[in-house]
Amino acid sequence: MATPSRRLLLLLLAVSAAAAASHPAHEFCAAAGAADAGCGGGGGDGTRILIKGGTVVNAHRAEEADVYIEDGVVVAVRPNIPVGDDNVRVIDATGKYVMPGGIDPHTHLAMEFMGTVTIDDFFSGHAAALAGGTTMHIDFVIPVGGNLTAGLESYRQKAAKAAMDYGFHMAITKWNDEVAREMEVMVKEHGINSFKFFMAYKGSLMVTDDLLLQGLQKCKSLGALAMVHAENGDAVAEGQKRMFDLGITGPEGHALSRPPILEGEATARAIRLAKFINTPLYVVHVMSIDAMEEIAKAKREGQRVIGEPVVSGLVLDDSLLWDPDFTIASKYVMSPPIREAGHGKALQAALSSGILQLVGTDHCTFNSTQKAFGSDDFRKIPNGVNGLEERMHIIWDSMVETGKISVTDYVRVTSTECAKIFNIYPRKGAILEGSDADIIILNPERSFVMGAHTHHSRSNTNVYEGRKGKGLVEVTISRGRVVWEDDILNIAPGSGRYVRMPPFGYVFDGIEKSDAAYRASLRAPVQRRVVAA
Ligand code: URP
Ligand code: ZN
Ligand code: ZN
Repeated sequence: MATPSRRLLLLLLAVSAAAAASHPAHEFCAAAGAADAGCGGGGGDGTRILIKGGTVVNAHRAEEADVYIEDGVVVAVRPNIPVGDDNVRVIDATGKYVMPGGIDPHTHLAMEFMGTVTIDDFFSGHAAALAGGTTMHIDFVIPVGGNLTAGLESYRQKAAKAAMDYGFHMAITKWNDEVAREMEVMVKEHGINSFKFFMAYKGSLMVTDDLLLQGLQKCKSLGALAMVHAENGDAVAEGQKRMFDLGITGPEGHALSRPPILEGEATARAIRLAKFINTPLYVVHVMSIDAMEEIAKAKREGQRVIGEPVVSGLVLDDSLLWDPDFTIASKYVMSPPIREAGHGKALQAALSSGILQLVGTDHCTFNSTQKAFGSDDFRKIPNGVNGLEERMHIIWDSMVETGKISVTDYVRVTSTECAKIFNIYPRKGAILEGSDADIIILNPERSFVMGAHTHHSRSNTNVYEGRKGKGLVEVTISRGRVVWEDDILNIAPGSGRYVRMPPFGYVFDGIEKSDAAYRASLRAPVQRRVVAA
């Protein structure tokens, strides 16, 4: 929760920006990947900023350089850029890292889920993100009654208050010819290039293998990335019944009812079905060694599988699900569950070695009142944890400060890889001439403390309560505007822009050739003579 002074500033900005929000600033851009002011490429307000003396880090290299920004776009990156003009704001970054703003590939803002709605919407979620150094995220549109167009319309309305750039994935929850047609429309007309299939949540979002196969096939034909929530939903339902039969009804029952083996099984199944169709697969929120090893095996065999760990899975363990205080225990309920100690370290090692490629949050926040819906039945505890504000700091502290990854790898796993996979690089995910000026300045000497009293999420709880670490995002620049500085947010609802993501990203390169090679490898049909009886 914001402190009173922060709350006041946010409120003032919200009121003063109400007029702006009624203007179509949030309207969807017309051209994919455009770097013009009308398409998220520029702030368009003439702001000029020179960041001097820092270490500029891109995924491909780190260098001592200055960064000059004009109209929301990076204009120059080189040493010793002269100041030259009084109208240029100069920011001293000596001793600090100047990096692309984070891109979170996995969030759920204002999502209707498990009988309630996530507490962070497209304004409070964006406040949290920007204060934590994330300047873009990709949220999951949930179809309305299986209808994709209605789902998109609903999310457009939710996103009208956006304060930073965002894109959309789309969930597929039922299958018919209309859904297949709508998928094409989403890709070709609305800039959505990824579709998520839930293999869990039986009775609500869960899909059958039949649907998954149809969906994989359709994704392939559209050049859209298929994403899976990989848990065996039938077995989860059985596991839940087992816990209830044993009299285990509290939050610990959540973890016990859906063990890693069910995540491993579904991950393996999705990987094999994607191999059968020969289309790339993105496994969201990889939480266990079991799932990670399936991904590692598939990659070793040359399959295109992308594994996304989330911050909670990397740095938390399941111990607090056994806390006697329901409010504490229930805040850790998410799916797949946060695992026993040991899984997180293995996932960190997999991230360091490239088995897992990019870090998300699965930010899906419910406050303690919402979590209490399941006070006598863990199956009714809304699933989800926070992380949008914490991701950049936690990954720096737990991975860079400990020497597990380099600063360039930090940029890769928190920003660049996401931009590349979802085909918006180098407009996003880089500090290069022509890139959007989404930039953070991180001071490696300063430290942070996390918690519900200082965070910007609307939730009254935080799964990282009391967590301390090194490396502080001092400045966040969103499309050329300083939006976070000196612990103060300067944001307005309606200023965020929708980022279209074109199909056929790099993960599709060469798929046609491997299809042709497969067809060529098939032996010719056997010509059999019909022998008269
Ligand atoms: O617990 C979770 N992960 N909640 C969000 C929905 C999902 O499965 O991604
Ligand atoms: Zn999921
Ligand atoms: Zn999710």
